[in-house]
Amino acid sequence: MRELRTAVIGIGNMGTAHARCIREGEIPGLALAAVCDLRPERLRWAEANWPGVARPADWRSLLDPALPLDAVIIAVPHPLHCEIAQAFLEAGKHVLSEKPLDIRLSRARKAVAAAEERGLVFAVMFNQRTDPLFIRAREIVRDPAFGEIRRSSWTVTNWYRTQAYYDSGTWRATWAGEGGGVMVNQAPHNLDLWQWICGMPCRLTARLGFGRHHRIEVEDEATLLTEYPNGATGVFTVSTGEYPGTNRLEICGTRGKLVLEDGGLKHWRLGEDVREVSGGSGEHSPRIPMTCETWRPEDKGPAHAGVLRDFARAVLEGGTPIAPAREALNELAVANAAFLSAWQEGAPVTLPVDEARFDALLALRQAESGSSRDPGAEALQPDGRYSERWSVRW
Ligand SMILES: NC(=O)c1ccc[n+]([C@@H]2O[C@H](COP(=O)([O-])OP(=O)(O)OC[C@H]3O[C@@H](n4cnc5c(N)ncnc54)[C@H](O)[C@@H]3O)[C@@H](O)[C@H]2O)c1
Repeated sequence: MRELRTAVIGIGNMGTAHARCIREGEIPGLALAAVCDLRPERLRWAEANWPGVARPADWRSLLDPALPLDAVIIAVPHPLHCEIAQAFLEAGKHVLSEKPLDIRLSRARKAVAAAEERGLVFAVMFNQRTDPLFIRAREIVRDPAFGEIRRSSWTVTNWYRTQAYYDSGTWRATWAGEGGGVMVNQAPHNLDLWQWICGMPCRLTARLGFGRHHRIEVEDEATLLTEYPNGATGVFTVSTGEYPGTNRLEICGTRGKLVLEDGGLKHWRLGEDVREVSGGSGEHSPRIPMTCETWRPEDKGPAHAGVLRDFARAVLEGGTPIAPAREALNELAVANAAFLSAWQEGAPVTLPVDEARFDALLALRQAESGSSRDPGAEALQPDGRYSERWSVRW
């Protein structure tokens, strides 16, 4: 099999995990040709552990034709994702970016256009899309037998983080370094799945809690109220400050209902569309035939390694990746709209988002941000392993 010469840009927590997976031969079709990081200690670590792998400090050096790369994986702080992606896409490389695709929809849209103009694979590490629970939920909701969605609500407050987590890298939880808090770091996984399963809202209202649970300038809690073109509504609550947290997604259709909680799924099927029964014979207590099934997948799917393997497959064999960057624009649109609403005293925001206004309001906050713009995380696991801090328990 042909192997794609791949560089991993940013070998902090996540980039090290991706590079290690490739280096240890777990990803057919990807070979680790280079790693890159601003921090000399990470490059020394790479030299000791991955001899023979190129390791510049400046990602621009990876554009040198003397180091012929096929693909790059971007795992640096989010505000840099699409700036770096764009440069490599323009140089004809395939790109897999960590989530979120970027912090600004306007920036991300340009990079997506660059990939599409050149027919390159541009994918995003939305690893939760490989979880059989969400794949099944999506199939059920998209099946006409579920009827039309009327309401969804997702409480995802099991993203608990300590102050030490926020202090572990000075880029974190600052407008300048990270570009937001829970809405750009943890929630993107859920916002992506929500739109993947339930579709895109056309309007939303948001309340964000800035530094509500931690000593940070950005939000560590958010509540969104969304409206959909068919009149359906949604509520999304996310927090890094509650313990123990909840992770419960409930979707009501006109012919069924779905609840995802505790690692399993409960699916009610109605024998008739509830709208016909409600508006029908005029009976006071009509009987609606109904069944209910529960299902629990055996595992959580291949996660990050699955997305890496799928990226290699999409480049080498063609076809759409699990999470194309174009679809990741949806998640970013919802997140940008939520910030806009919260910054404007909870005013409703209609999608598509006013990108220029979002960029201007974010720039104001970035200008006053307390970030020192130090890019490094000081609390990497000594062996470079993926930290348990990120595992989400249902
Ligand atoms: N998919 C997931 O489950 C998941 C989990 C954790 C993090 N992430 C994402 O991965 C990205 C990185 O997060 P992390 O936790 O690994 O952060 P981190 O701070 O541990 O690692 C970032 C690394 O990038 C390096 N860096 C910063 N600017 C750079 C530049 N200009 N050039 C080269 N290197 C640079 C830093 O020195 C650091 O080593 C974030 O966007 C985050 O959202 C995704």
